[in-house]
This record gives sequence, structure tokens and C-alpha cells, in this order.
Amino acid sequence: MVLPISIIGTAVLRKKAEPVTKDYPELAKLIDDMFETMYKTDGVGLAAPQVGHSIRVFVVDAAPMTDDENDTFTKSFKRAMINPEIIETFGSNVSYNEGCLSVPGMHENVVRPDGVKIRYYDADFELREETLTGNCARVVQHEYDHLDGILFTDKVGVLRRKMIRNKLANISKGKFEHNYKVKMA
Ligand code: NI
Repeated sequence: MVLPISIIGTAVLRKKAEPVTKDYPELAKLIDDMFETMYKTDGVGLAAPQVGHSIRVFVVDAAPMTDDENDTFTKSFKRAMINPEIIETFGSNVSYNEGCLSVPGMHENVVRPDGVKIRYYDADFELREETLTGNCARVVQHEYDHLDGILFTDKVGVLRRKMIRNKLANISKGKFEHNYKVKMA
């Protein structure tokens, strides 16, 4: 089932999401729906708060971000991460033009470390740990921020943030174009 996407200005996007347990009602179904919603909206990641659930879950599929055809890791980097924890970040700070389904029409350069080590439970509640770099680390850091109520537009430079303030206010009032189902409150 394709779920509506919560838009900036919605309270759930600003809450610190709660850890989930195995018995969270219909968690497997929610994760399936999140993948379906992400593919339908051409996203590369989607966090549970974006579909109205304030829980620490996100899905990613970095395949469309593959820069090098031989990079089979990125090409097959499809994950559901439950209760993820970024253990450390490493590498140089890299600027990348990010967007977000919850902030339609906006793309801004965001600086993040190139690498992360992350621990999480997969959809079968198996504990996993991965060391990621490049686009995989990028998408995971963006989604992880959603679980703490942080949007990528919070991370742009001070000056740029002032410049986009009105545009963000307009988006939160529903003034934007979209081709997917959205939820404003
Ligand atoms: Ni996002």
C-alpha cells in the first residue's frame, strides 16, 4: 500500500522517534508499505516519521545513486534498518545536493562525513553492523536524521537557511507541486 508522505510543518517530522520492539503491530507490513511508497515516489530512502509513525525505522535503496556501473555494493544497497545507531562517522566532509520527499521541490547542498559505521536490526530483527561510505553513507545519514526530528534543510549554512526560510514556510502551507499523496497534519 502506498502511504501519504508527511510534509515539513507536520509535528511528527520534528519528534524524536521511539525505539521499536518486535511486537510493534504490523511492523513487517509497515516496512513493506514503506518500500512500496519509496519506489512509487522515486525516493532512495524513507523514514517511518515521514509516513506518520514516530518509530526508529527507515528503508533505503541506493541503486539509483550508483555513479559507477561496477559498484555492485551501491547497486544492491537495499536495507530496512530498525533501531539504528550510528556508532561513528569518519572520512572527509563532503557536500552533496540533497532532497527529501517531505520537503518537495527543494534541493540544497548538505555537508556530511563521507563514512559511517552503523548498527541496526534488520527486518528479521537480526543485529547487523555495516561500514558505509559514499552515497550509501549519505542516504543512511539523511534517513537517520529523520528519526531525531532533523530535516536536511536544518543543515544548510546559516546564510542559505535565511534565504530559503520563506520557501519552506510556503511548502508547510501547502504551496508546492507534487505527484504523490501527501499529508499536511
Ligand atoms: Ni528525507
